[in-house]
Amino acid sequence: MESIPLNAPAYVRNRKLLQWVKETAELCLPDSVYWCDGSQEEYDRLCVEMVDSGTFIKLSEEKRPNSFLCRSDPSDVARVEDRTFICSIRKQDAGPTNNWVAPKEMKATMNKLFSGCMKGRTMYVIPFSMGPLGSHISHIGVEISDSPYVVTNMRIMTRMGRAAMELLGEESEYVPCLHSVGAPLEPGQQDVPWPCNDTKYIVHFPEERAIVSYGSGYGGNALLGKKCFALRIASSMARDEGWLAEHMLILGVESPEGEKDYVAAAFPSACGKTNFAMMIPPAEMDGWKITTIGDDIAWIKPGKDGRLHAINPEYGFFGVAPGTSVKSNPNAMATLYANCIFTNVAMTPDGDVWWEDMTKEAPPSLIDWQGKPWTPDCGRPAAHPNARFTSPASQCPSIDAGWENPDGVPIAAFIFGGRRGDTIPLVYQSANWYYGVYLAATMGSEKTAAAAGKIGDVRRDPFAMIPFCGYHMGDYFNHWLQIGRTLSEPPRIFGVNWFRKDENGKFLWPGFGDNMRVLKWIIGRVHGRSAAVESPLGWMPKYESLDWSGLEDFTFEKFTKLMSVDREAWKQELFSHEELLEKLYDKLPKEFNHIRELMLSTLWMSPEHWALAPERYSEQ
Ligand code: GTP
Ligand code: SPV
Ligand code: MN
Repeated sequence: MESIPLNAPAYVRNRKLLQWVKETAELCLPDSVYWCDGSQEEYDRLCVEMVDSGTFIKLSEEKRPNSFLCRSDPSDVARVEDRTFICSIRKQDAGPTNNWVAPKEMKATMNKLFSGCMKGRTMYVIPFSMGPLGSHISHIGVEISDSPYVVTNMRIMTRMGRAAMELLGEESEYVPCLHSVGAPLEPGQQDVPWPCNDTKYIVHFPEERAIVSYGSGYGGNALLGKKCFALRIASSMARDEGWLAEHMLILGVESPEGEKDYVAAAFPSACGKTNFAMMIPPAEMDGWKITTIGDDIAWIKPGKDGRLHAINPEYGFFGVAPGTSVKSNPNAMATLYANCIFTNVAMTPDGDVWWEDMTKEAPPSLIDWQGKPWTPDCGRPAAHPNARFTSPASQCPSIDAGWENPDGVPIAAFIFGGRRGDTIPLVYQSANWYYGVYLAATMGSEKTAAAAGKIGDVRRDPFAMIPFCGYHMGDYFNHWLQIGRTLSEPPRIFGVNWFRKDENGKFLWPGFGDNMRVLKWIIGRVHGRSAAVESPLGWMPKYESLDWSGLEDFTFEKFTKLMSVDREAWKQELFSHEELLEKLYDKLPKEFNHIRELMLSTLWMSPEHWALAPERYSEQ
């Protein structure tokens, strides 16, 4: 058999990589091998090719310069958690919250699936750096993919191309990320706009630090630097090496006095990380300013100063489009002005994009995310609920001046928050690191459209990491506890819930920019300024300790509702923690049972002693 020419450019010198590319080409049998250099010229050429093949639609150059719309196959619209595997050598290292198959068995399955799977296609070799090029916190990966959509998205989402390849030199280690849409073409066979396969596998080998993904072209399934590398493989590296890889946004907060702090926050998928990371404070909160470091992933390392320092390993935003508007997230809208890829949004007659709640009123007619005519009364959503934009982070007006600082930024506080219509108050501060880890470990959230499956059910999503932790969750909790012990100044830990509803199902809290009021209290706590009352959950703000300027009509009664800790509901809540904790029993930190029992007994104290009785919020 004739071997496929590799045509590696002279700057590709890594022996292991050359060997891997050769073997992969021999297995997958692509028509050709292409080495991505990451140039603008290359990006533009691939976009033109995808327009010609029907994968991309060029948007109006006037309305949305250099931007493209892509419609996925309707069956390939989100991450597939039930097809995601952590193939550690020992099953107990993956833990009960991950799917597991023995590495040998999985490799045999993959070998079969990948045999000839790139026939009729180009095999792209995509070198990338997660984190600023050359930072001591960064790591290099190389994705092999048969999808030009992946190449263009990876160029926005990572530092992709020749510079990353050159950092590899002859011998350096990289994380191999193999991806195929699983749709080989027979000679003469017409391609489809979004090739994919009903059989899907998202596979991780944590000991080898390798990733294999088959059958999907979408987001976290296919852009392997993101969830697969920067969270699942990196969390496993982080445990071995004493750092943290987290599903967190990172933002900077500047006070009117010019004091600057950084916080990291973990909210589950589609629960407001992008919004919070780019928040614009209410105009009346004079002089407070938010800057953005990242909106989805944080790599966090203990520094010599006894503090934690975080980088955003990504280079762009892969954000939820529906709900994004000039009102809800003006910085995101400004970021999207040009040079973006939009996936599964609707298109306007004049060649621009639209999605639910982008404008108050829907345009009278659109082409929906599946390419069908759409009108406001047709009963279908115009954009898929998990429609996404891919945009360069550098275009974000609120991007922090230090967002590419190779040393990262010091973290003053961690914030954890799920989507909870009831039970969980707006904000509370954990008594200490241990209570904070318990808070994060037992976080619950209503399921969103970011992953396939039933929407709305509350599930435990510890640290917003349930789909992303590359090893046993119990070990992960212990790792967090251990990191805390090594810090002279551990960040303070807070719980938040923007999503509590009243008896009519309406959100009690305005959210978005008004979340600044909560963040201001949090920053005040970090600096020992904000007042608080003790509660069974930790410290909570009094009504008067939040800044209400511009929101004076938010009444004390409403606040009490928003902050209430209902004893019966919390009893149920603490009992339902058991479901997850029992699953992890053999590796669960001993502290957790004590904390839970202490919380239960505090809830059990008579109401007179109960710090959360409404009178404790009074002005006196
Ligand atoms: P991933 O990218 O999936 O990890 O998610 P994310 O956490 O970045 O999600 P994103 O910020 O895009 O959240 C989108 C959803 O959260 C939309 O439905 C928003 O309307 C909603 N949302 C964000 N902030 C708030 C808020 O403060 N209040 C309310 N009620 N909804 C919010
Ligand atoms: C998430 O689901 O948390 C995302 C989107 O950030 S994806 O990259 O598709 O996983
Ligand atoms: Mn995410």
